[in-house]
Amino acid sequence: MVTTFPDVLDDDVDYALDELDDFHERLAALRARRPAAWVRCFGEKAVLFTSYELVNAAFKDEATFPSAEFYGNVVTDVMGRNIQCMEGVEHKTNRALVSPGFRQRLMPGIVGPLLEPVAHELIDRFVDRGEADLVSEFTRRYPAKVILAMLGLPQTDEDDVTRWALGMLDIQRSHAHAVQCSQEFERYVQPHLDARRDAPGDDLLSKLAVEEVDGTQLTDEEIFAFLKLLFPAGADTTYLGLGSTLLGLLTHPSELAKMVADPEGRSAAAAEEGLRWNPPVPLLPRRNRHDVVWHDIAIPAGTQLLFGIGPANRDPAVFTDPDRFDLDRPIPNTLAFGFGVHYCLGAHLARTEMAIALRVIFERLPNLRLVDDADVRVTGAFIQLLRGPNRLPVRFDG
Ligand code: HEM
Repeated sequence: MVTTFPDVLDDDVDYALDELDDFHERLAALRARRPAAWVRCFGEKAVLFTSYELVNAAFKDEATFPSAEFYGNVVTDVMGRNIQCMEGVEHKTNRALVSPGFRQRLMPGIVGPLLEPVAHELIDRFVDRGEADLVSEFTRRYPAKVILAMLGLPQTDEDDVTRWALGMLDIQRSHAHAVQCSQEFERYVQPHLDARRDAPGDDLLSKLAVEEVDGTQLTDEEIFAFLKLLFPAGADTTYLGLGSTLLGLLTHPSELAKMVADPEGRSAAAAEEGLRWNPPVPLLPRRNRHDVVWHDIAIPAGTQLLFGIGPANRDPAVFTDPDRFDLDRPIPNTLAFGFGVHYCLGAHLARTEMAIALRVIFERLPNLRLVDDADVRVTGAFIQLLRGPNRLPVRFDG
């Protein structure tokens, strides 16, 4: 029986709360020393997996580390019981109900044409200035606008929806505000949902309103829960991934030259490499349900765990020269979108969104370059478990 935590941690920093300027170096050192290590997370003792092999295996082991064990306790009262809080048949059924809008075959032909105008519209606003901050003026805004467009909701509601989504994410620090944001979001969606049930269109909200799997339709509550997952899961991640990919390109002249020479041909590989190099969710939280000895480490029941997607993506056992951003690198089974039954539902959409945005940016902004970059860095966005560049001040030729 495993019941005790170690007295001494392998690395006594809080990976959820401490701003770590040496994030990658620290994790690389930990991986070399102890790929399953005791650290701190939100003030608690936690086990952090850092090698590609262990993170991959941990994702596959839903029986030992069920997603529901973590999300079910943390997010339910604010976000509703979304599919991350479910397991087994319930997860399978609910995932099947919300999946149709995210299928890979919809992406190029149906979703792609919806995304391109969003990218152009954002660039139109600053293109005449010859300079911009691509984080505040493009990457942060683009995915939220894409989700509104997919759902068939008005683009003018972007500010409100973004504010509610961020508020809901801040559950662990500001619970009352998160609950308030959640309620305001439901009041906003309700009339749109009622209208779709009466007269469905071809947008995603209509699909959620009428779709059936095995004779079951989603309830309003289930739809709210899914939408509340969609904005943080879909918008906050994609914006960080897009920013990191742009940072990789703008700080690696040889790779930038490849991209500039062929934006259409290179954008998908650039997105993939950006997600490997600095994944938006470098540390993904979980909890184990039972006492377990897993890969030689004794973990008491209920221990918080961190799946180190970031360090796994830079594991030298799998990637040559892993810290380098390299568009020609083969990437086996990226872990940026997780793995196993909870594998990111929006992975095809995110890849398509990022590839289209990168192509449009490099086609429209000639000689794109980073300026005033002294304090530009990949940093914790909101909490340290989500990371991306703080800003991307750029100039380009007219
Ligand atoms: C670059 C962008 C993205 C990244 C890096 C990302 C990453 C992830 C990761 C790591 C997971 C697994 C979570 C876990 O196992 O606990 C996940 C799940 C999920 N993602 Fe994404 N995501 C991205 C974009 C999106 C988009 C655009 C959407 C939808 C609009 C989306 C919707 C979801 C949903 C619904 C789940 C839960 C799936 C389930 O529990 O079955 N994600 N994502």
